[in-house]
Amino acid sequence: MFMSKDLSQEEILELYRREDPEELYRRAEHLTRQNFGEEVFLRALVEFTNYCSCDCHYCGISRSNLGVNRYRLDEETLMSVIEKGLEKGMNTFVLQGGEDPKWPAKRIAKLVKEIRLRFGNEFALTLSCGLKSKEEYALMKEAGANRYLMRFETSDPELFKQYTGGKSLERRLQGLRDLHDMGWEVGSGYMTGLPGETEEIRINNALLCQQLGLHMLGIGPFIPHPDTPLKDAEQQPLEWALKGTALLRLLLPKANIPATTAAGTLDPRGREQMLQAGANVLMPNITPVVHKKDYLLYPGKICLDESGFECVGCLTLRCEGIDRELSFKRGDSPSFTGV
Ligand code: 5AD
Ligand code: FES
Repeated sequence: MFMSKDLSQEEILELYRREDPEELYRRAEHLTRQNFGEEVFLRALVEFTNYCSCDCHYCGISRSNLGVNRYRLDEETLMSVIEKGLEKGMNTFVLQGGEDPKWPAKRIAKLVKEIRLRFGNEFALTLSCGLKSKEEYALMKEAGANRYLMRFETSDPELFKQYTGGKSLERRLQGLRDLHDMGWEVGSGYMTGLPGETEEIRINNALLCQQLGLHMLGIGPFIPHPDTPLKDAEQQPLEWALKGTALLRLLLPKANIPATTAAGTLDPRGREQMLQAGANVLMPNITPVVHKKDYLLYPGKICLDESGFECVGCLTLRCEGIDRELSFKRGDSPSFTGV
């Protein structure tokens, strides 16, 4: 009935631009249920280092923020976190970290190899540790990693440059294309509500995701962090991220789209609202609780005192509350055809 293939890009954008977003959300949720049923895939997130050589103006753990208590998890700790996750039935792990010179691609590849040797190849391993060279991506893929996440943050080259301290958007996009060509399952995405972002940029953000042929899409509201250059930026409404989620779902019907923690931070029901606007993934954070408070990309982050395993119970109930079901399946994107 409401298949997106019934809608042209023009019609999707017309829906997006309407004053009342209800029809947009309704169609996006319908399409999500058509492609994924009631299932909401679970991804266990492990924030393994908050050291970062980048200096992004929006980010709470950027190099210049001297108030951050820095930590990095070692191999032994990471192995035991994953072991515990596997025991609890989890089937996807996301290892996320800053661009940490002490955790270069070679060391990550070695860790991945050890994880595969010890725990097997059934579950999905996702890396999210910044821009690397083609050789480095190859090393990590050969070791047994499957998926890579790297947001482009904004599709506007000038804004990107401004907020990353002079970096090139094109280089990051080339990284995403390289990953795609190498057979990774690739995720990217952006924040909504950065200062200077226009409605046109927001639309281009979503269209860029489509052009890149992404398998996973992460979108979240930008939340100003008090210890960053963007501390005085205005907080924009969650609705921008919700509308963005729905637009992405209509443009990329088979992509995996998380209901992000940033949405849950802005509004207690933010993640549920995202799931009802086209999202189909939840990402509990199983980083050891002692370190969670030190990975504050933005203030007010939720679930800092709970272990991710406690979150699973909470998320189960949240899904049931909106007639959905938390799924422990590996959940590759149906749009992913790589190896
Ligand atoms: N508010 C919301 N999201 C943020 N991120 C970084 N800083 C912030 C912030 N202040 C997002 C970026 C990054 C992801 C891991 O977190 O999009 O890619
Ligand atoms: Fe973490 Fe609810 S999701 S406590």
